[in-house]
Amino acid sequence: MELITVASARQAEAIGKQVRLQGWVRTRRDSKGGFSFIELNDGSCQGNLQIVAEAALPNYETEVKKLGAGCSVTVEGEVRQSPAKGQATEVAAKSVTVHGWADAESYPLQKKGHSYEFLRTIAHLRPRTNTFGAIARLRNQVSRSIHDFFQEQGFLYVHTPIITASDCEGAGHLFKVSTLNPAQLPLQNGQVDFTKDFFHRPTFLTVSGQLEAEIFACGLGKVYTFGPTFRAENSNTSRHLAEFWMIEPEMAYFDLQDNMTLAESFLKRIIRDALDKCGEDMKFFQERVDKEILTRLQGVLNSQFLRLPYTEAVEILEKSGEKFEFPVRWGIDLQSEHERYLTEKKFGCPVILFDYPRTLKPFYMRVNDDGKTVRAMDVLVPGVGEIIGGSQREERLDILEQRMKEQGLDPAGYWWYLDLRRYGTVPHSGFGLGLERTLLFLSGMGNIRDVVPFPRVPGSAEF
Ligand code: 4AD
Ligand code: MG
Repeated sequence: MELITVASARQAEAIGKQVRLQGWVRTRRDSKGGFSFIELNDGSCQGNLQIVAEAALPNYETEVKKLGAGCSVTVEGEVRQSPAKGQATEVAAKSVTVHGWADAESYPLQKKGHSYEFLRTIAHLRPRTNTFGAIARLRNQVSRSIHDFFQEQGFLYVHTPIITASDCEGAGHLFKVSTLNPAQLPLQNGQVDFTKDFFHRPTFLTVSGQLEAEIFACGLGKVYTFGPTFRAENSNTSRHLAEFWMIEPEMAYFDLQDNMTLAESFLKRIIRDALDKCGEDMKFFQERVDKEILTRLQGVLNSQFLRLPYTEAVEILEKSGEKFEFPVRWGIDLQSEHERYLTEKKFGCPVILFDYPRTLKPFYMRVNDDGKTVRAMDVLVPGVGEIIGGSQREERLDILEQRMKEQGLDPAGYWWYLDLRRYGTVPHSGFGLGLERTLLFLSGMGNIRDVVPFPRVPGSAEF
């Protein structure tokens, strides 16, 4: 008796095997002929396995006929060819052991077709639904592709800290980390005395592992981080989370063009693997979530990403004749509506915007010779907008210090970052890919809260 998954038992090669399966009942249906069909799912794949349970089973009347959605079972039996359409196999049960009942009256997933909004309120149960199973498997595959891609190219995986003292993006959207008692804060001249805090200084949850990744790149060459990042922005949109995962490669001796080339092949690899290795789930997204998804992804795979300077993009937007909610002029931060116009309507392919105004971007981006723009790049994709943000880094000590002051940062607090420019400085570049935005892009799902296991957004952190 071999313990196998539903995914394996659904393959024709399993026919004739004696197997044991463990999972959750999706539905039970009783046939007039005195036996029952149980649809079993164990998370290994989108499809269910049909179990045929005969009346001769000793617990048929007492247990099998009471099974319903959500009950957990172990089934032993033989895999045989299924006479039914749409499935190669089924299992003729020799025994059905019930581990846990799920009361049909109160089990929230008894009924099908719940809204995504409702499912968010039962984040502890939604992994048992088709959509969230598919998302979980896709997320797993994407994570794997990310490691495969970088490992095959000799990148070193580095773990950057989650607790930090610096604000990488300089945007001030930081969660504080403290063990001080808010009801009894130590004060010094009316200000909180953070020297009494755990780290003897103010500390935060990281918004990006970039600065630390730069440390490793400027010594070990090509590295990447892949971990959680945190942003205390009060933005209640379908594209923002307060806790999300980011992948940040950082490469010594890469300029901005090298950075773009890497970003493009990286995204294409992730798409190709998703299509190749998550075929059944991708088909599900196509049928149930977004009818365009497969053509859109195939289109991106076949396209060459368009590289467009910010200044030209602004000209295009100004001449577009579109009615934008936020009017466009040189110097503004592009909004999602502008980004999506460019990538969806105007060009119909991913667009890499680069050379943004220096006032819009963080201190670490390399200043161009025009003095007005920096070597920033944002990768915009159809369906989502910005999915990657990156840049060539400022490797010149004096200009970097000047940029910090310009943005109100104290260079003294970044002495270690400046040391990288003081000793053996190198041109280098990197970018950050948002994992959840990638999942939106791949699945066609509309809200970022539905592609992360436990969404953290303003006012919500229950599970
Ligand atoms: O453009 P961002 O802010 O860039 C950085 O953090 C750089 N330090 C990266 C680097 O160069 N190493 O963020 C990068 C990506 C965005 O393009 C987006 O995909 C995602 O991270 N992202 C978010 N995803 C979900 N919720 C949020 N609040 C996000 N903020 C950024
Ligand atoms: Mg960005």
